Amino acid sequence: MIPVKIKDNVFSLRANDWDRKLFDELVPLPDGTSYNAYLIKGSDKTTLVDTVYPPKTAEFVAALKATGLETIDYVVANHAELDHAGSIPAVLELFPKAKVVANARCWRMLCDQMPLDRGSFLEAKDGGELSLGDKTLKFVFMPWVHWPETMGVFLKEDRIFFPCDFLGAHLAASELTVADEAQFEVAAKRYYAEIMAPYRVLCRSALARVEELEPAIIAPSHGPVHAKPSVIIDLYRRWTSEEVKPGVMIVYASMYHSTTAMVERLTDRLMEKGLPVQVINAVGLDSGVLSMALVDASTVVFASSTVLTGPHPSVAYAAILANALAPKARFVAMIGSYGWGTTMPDSLREMLREFKAEFFEPVLTKGAPNAETFAALDALAESIAAANAALAKSA
Ligand code: FEO
Repeated sequence: MIPVKIKDNVFSLRANDWDRKLFDELVPLPDGTSYNAYLIKGSDKTTLVDTVYPPKTAEFVAALKATGLETIDYVVANHAELDHAGSIPAVLELFPKAKVVANARCWRMLCDQMPLDRGSFLEAKDGGELSLGDKTLKFVFMPWVHWPETMGVFLKEDRIFFPCDFLGAHLAASELTVADEAQFEVAAKRYYAEIMAPYRVLCRSALARVEELEPAIIAPSHGPVHAKPSVIIDLYRRWTSEEVKPGVMIVYASMYHSTTAMVERLTDRLMEKGLPVQVINAVGLDSGVLSMALVDASTVVFASSTVLTGPHPSVAYAAILANALAPKARFVAMIGSYGWGTTMPDSLREMLREFKAEFFEPVLTKGAPNAETFAALDALAESIAAANAALAKSA
């Protein structure tokens, strides 16, 4: 890890985690990730904004020592999650006079996770400022992006906003700023979809606060620095809106090809009607793919074989995950095959309570799909197309 200059006396200290495969044992990381701390040297005081993930602490401490700094006066903790706060104790050990600057809720959450001395706490208030001499930090509370205590900090003189998780991306990179815009947009969408999407209303409020600041640079604590803030702001404006795109996501699991045949028939009919369709096999599901599809799909179809009277466990997992993301989808359908009986639709419906959507009549078949099944699927495709056409008209 090396300090990389962003502006005079403002440096990125980025711990790239090139090889991390999963976050929270849940979120796949196809591009690795990074934990970004920032060092700001004012004429009177020096501060860190956030720290890094505990397995990167030794690397971080070595980088701090290499700067030759005699002291650090403040460590701003924007967020209590350990991928950013986890190295605070090591920083305090190195610089025992440093104060941890956090809001009251964040401080309590930090103390739940690590031994901290109350004497090291300096409370940040929403809109409050902290002078570093020729540089000034302003605190901007942005609760629930994605924990309740989250805040950002604005370096007024340089117009740099540090939003911690918000507006970030799981992307390890050697370049300070976005190097490959296409790769970045996919990584940022995956990150938004899996972490921020359930809080999209609060994300809209946080985004408004960021826009009011008119930052020249946004420096999040995962992924590259935004030298053109309008790019990520425009993406978030689109993703957090309540608008959906006419399109169908089908997530399925099939044991003896019957449900697969149903999915294929429905997909063909939907395509004939000009609707975009994304088909995702729930077995070995990449939660990021599902989450990204849910950001703006108007319609979700769960297609499942019946296992022990209920949905296939892979589809049940997809349903639980989708429900937790509280997606914008307006229409839901359930289709599938069973051997002798099924409660699959009722069981799935129970798992989908966060969906504020219209549910179509399920299409089920005993054994392999027959002419009657295909006719029912054709009718379902008609209903989905009609509902999407009405939605497009009302938009
Ligand atoms: Fe990157 Fe919520 O921590």
